[in-house]
Amino acid sequence: MVKGKLKQIKSKSHRVTTSGDIEVSTYLEIAKELGGEQPAAAKEAIPSAEREAIIVIDFGSQYSMLIARRIRECQVYCELVPPDTPWEKIAPLNPKGFILSGGPASVYEPNAPLAPAYIYERHLPILGICYGMQVLTHQLGGQVTPGAKHEYGHAILHLSEVDSPLFADLPPSSPVWMSHGDKVEQLPPDFTVLAYTENSPFAVMGRDGEIFGLQFHPEVIHTPEGKTILKNFVYRVCGCRGNWTMSSFINDSISKIKQQVGKGKVISALSGGVDSAVVATLIHRAIGDQLTCIFVNHGLLRREEVERTFNVFKLNLGMNIIYVDASQRFLKRLKGVIDPEAKRKVVGEEFIRVFEEEAKKIGKVDFLAQGTLYPDVIESASTASASAKIKTHHNVGGLPAKMTLQLLEPLRDLFKDEVRQVGLALGLPEEMVWRQPFPGPGLAIRIIGEVTEEKIEILRGADFIVMNEIKKAKLYRQLWQSFAILTDVKSVGVMGDYRTYGYLVAVRAVTSDDAMTADWSRLPYDVLARISSRIVNEVPGVNRVVYDITSKPPSTIEWE
Ligand code: XMP
Repeated sequence: MVKGKLKQIKSKSHRVTTSGDIEVSTYLEIAKELGGEQPAAAKEAIPSAEREAIIVIDFGSQYSMLIARRIRECQVYCELVPPDTPWEKIAPLNPKGFILSGGPASVYEPNAPLAPAYIYERHLPILGICYGMQVLTHQLGGQVTPGAKHEYGHAILHLSEVDSPLFADLPPSSPVWMSHGDKVEQLPPDFTVLAYTENSPFAVMGRDGEIFGLQFHPEVIHTPEGKTILKNFVYRVCGCRGNWTMSSFINDSISKIKQQVGKGKVISALSGGVDSAVVATLIHRAIGDQLTCIFVNHGLLRREEVERTFNVFKLNLGMNIIYVDASQRFLKRLKGVIDPEAKRKVVGEEFIRVFEEEAKKIGKVDFLAQGTLYPDVIESASTASASAKIKTHHNVGGLPAKMTLQLLEPLRDLFKDEVRQVGLALGLPEEMVWRQPFPGPGLAIRIIGEVTEEKIEILRGADFIVMNEIKKAKLYRQLWQSFAILTDVKSVGVMGDYRTYGYLVAVRAVTSDDAMTADWSRLPYDVLARISSRIVNEVPGVNRVVYDITSKPPSTIEWE
């Protein structure tokens, strides 16, 4: 790529960041543009003191990640790995047990994924879940019936071996969630039935209090006692001590950062989003003024967002921050741009340009901090490797040619909820830690049609009211996102004795787990009424408010 020329930024039409937050997409692009390189060993960030881990062999179930989250909720570190992972990669984690996840395959299919041999050779406890149980059965000499009647939904689990360590603190009968086609027909030698349901005589099987198979899914909320079963497995069966806490993570990560960075210099983009906030705070704790944050105000942020972010990081935490008000630059570039993807591209390109200009002024920099989270790591591992992708975009842009930045990714082992806990433990304000996701291109994709200064002001006013009323009604945290959209529609209204011709504002509030799907929130009528009446009364230029009652799919969360 020609020096000084920016790489085209890929269209982001259906990119959904796992965090749903501004920083993932923004950072990844900065990393690509600045030639970021993956740290040599991803495992570096794992707490080394008294390491213990549960390894989930991921056979591709939609619930695999949920298993890892549940185990971590028990304060035990857990990682997901593909079935072909060699033992050498797992050994340094000091595994205390294995979980074989569910998956869509059938064990008799020609290329069905199976458990690697070391699972059985290491004599560590194993828990097979659904397909994982069928894998155990198949590999240990039992029989699985393919394509048996599909069992999906609730069932009642009855314990036949109440003394099993897996069942400690469990009632004799409890609801469980089933979702399987194939089924265990004959147990492998030396296994016994530990529990059954009406349709599954072998709902739980076990051998020697060390190897277990569950036909149902303990990780989903529809299995209310599932967490107790998983907890029993990690503590009573695997003998874990439970040292995965956020304060141990913070201490460990601070020493890792110190070690990795040495006397080097780090830059980080600050956006006000939780991931970038936690990354910056953690690194600042470790290396203080060796970190410089660049806060690019593209003029498309929500009302008071700039001040709030600046106050926390500059005034309260005393960080080294370069604040750039680039609003006019962005506005100029957005002039006449109507197509949503074109808006994204303009904002993305300009953002990197400003960031690069500022970074250049700092002089030599060694690291770019990035808010990569564990779900992003898993996602990129399941496609091409993240480092390979980053290198294909290797480009130093306007920066000195020798400036190749290493990536510093202190959150790459964490789930979003863990990032929030770390944020709270680091003393960040609750408001920042619980901030709803906000898209990188900001208000530009919430203004339908051309973005102008006047429209941004109108939208900021309406959006501020939505936020305010949602917070007052104590609904903010339950909602994935809630915001206003300025449509390109004008309609007739009447105010006092005057006819008005003003903008139509739409209100969007959705619930979601991961932004892949979302449902419109059934907001109480009185909340909607207050939002509507405040917007038309307090925001000049708006005379009508509608509420968006479409789910995703077929809609998307954002309007553009
Ligand atoms: P959609 O509209 O596709 O949004 O349902 C899913 C999630 O992604 C966020 N989003 C973006 N985030 N840059 C971002 O950083 C973008 O261009 C972008 N577009 C959508 C959106 O807010 C929602 O959380």
